[in-house]
Amino acid sequence: MKSGIALAAIAALLMVGGVASAQQPIVIKFSHVVAVDTPKGKGAEYFKKLAEERTKGRVKVEVYPNSSLFKDGEEMEALQLGSVQLLAPSLAKFGPLGVREFEVFDLPYIFDNYAELHKVTDGPVGAALFKKLEPKGIVGLAYWDNGFKVMSANKPIRIPADYKGLKMRIQSSKVLGDEMKALGAIPQVMAFSEVYQALQTGVVDGTENPPSNFYTQKMQEVQKYLALTDHGYLGYAVIANKKFWDALPADIRTTLEGAMKDATKFANDIAQKENDDALAAVKASGKTEIITLTPDQKAAMKKALVSVHKENEPRVGKDTIAEVYKETGFKP
Ligand code: LMR
Repeated sequence: MKSGIALAAIAALLMVGGVASAQQPIVIKFSHVVAVDTPKGKGAEYFKKLAEERTKGRVKVEVYPNSSLFKDGEEMEALQLGSVQLLAPSLAKFGPLGVREFEVFDLPYIFDNYAELHKVTDGPVGAALFKKLEPKGIVGLAYWDNGFKVMSANKPIRIPADYKGLKMRIQSSKVLGDEMKALGAIPQVMAFSEVYQALQTGVVDGTENPPSNFYTQKMQEVQKYLALTDHGYLGYAVIANKKFWDALPADIRTTLEGAMKDATKFANDIAQKENDDALAAVKASGKTEIITLTPDQKAAMKKALVSVHKENEPRVGKDTIAEVYKETGFKP
């Protein structure tokens, strides 16, 4: 009995990465794929600052931006294996994990603004989605905003017909694949770290992302046109390895939860401005022409894209979609 307890204690200590020694801080590796100068990059740095200050050095957070530790396609497995403790993947990247309901956030035009989105992330749908991560050994800690997406290419893109035959890079979401197909484009799933080069070499013709990601990856150097389509939302789930998180000393976990709450507010408060500033910087670069759609062009895009909702009911879940409609007032 005693040795069983001792073994369990050792296992718990190992799980929290060497918390055994009073001198050794608990190390939390936080890996993400975007630049530091983005809503997520700044949110991660702010969490690090708060976590280290408030635990008085008992926790050390190492932030690895720009896919420098793990890239798309690697990071989820690394989290499950405990090679990294914290991630903030976009909500479009949970399909390969088997939690396809997250792709509800990718449905075109489902949110008109951040307020509608927050009703979902702060409400029962957001909580239910996090519950679905637990059997995968993952705990959902927070939702972080980025913003509304633009489309880009090397030819002017205004109406669905302009997308015909374009190879468009997307994240690993079937909903996004169907979105591009609805426009007559050819979707190509690719890790974020490879997008710039793929655009530069013509492996793909265009892509979608909020301006903050477009600008900080220097896509203005390799894309001549950017259309202000606002056709979909991009945001993140901050997630942790569940075993690691549960094995933290209770006082540390509570402090980290508080730090996460405040870092979430910080990240969400800066998201809109980060994107506005990035768009202004793209404009100022003079390299990419910004296209503002007319109301008719916007309507044509919306008409072409809403079919994606119905088509993805079996994948995303009819109930999940209906609950989001109820929160946002969206009418297909
Ligand atoms: C992507 O296009 O892969 C991005 O949305 C990356 C990110 O995390 O913002």
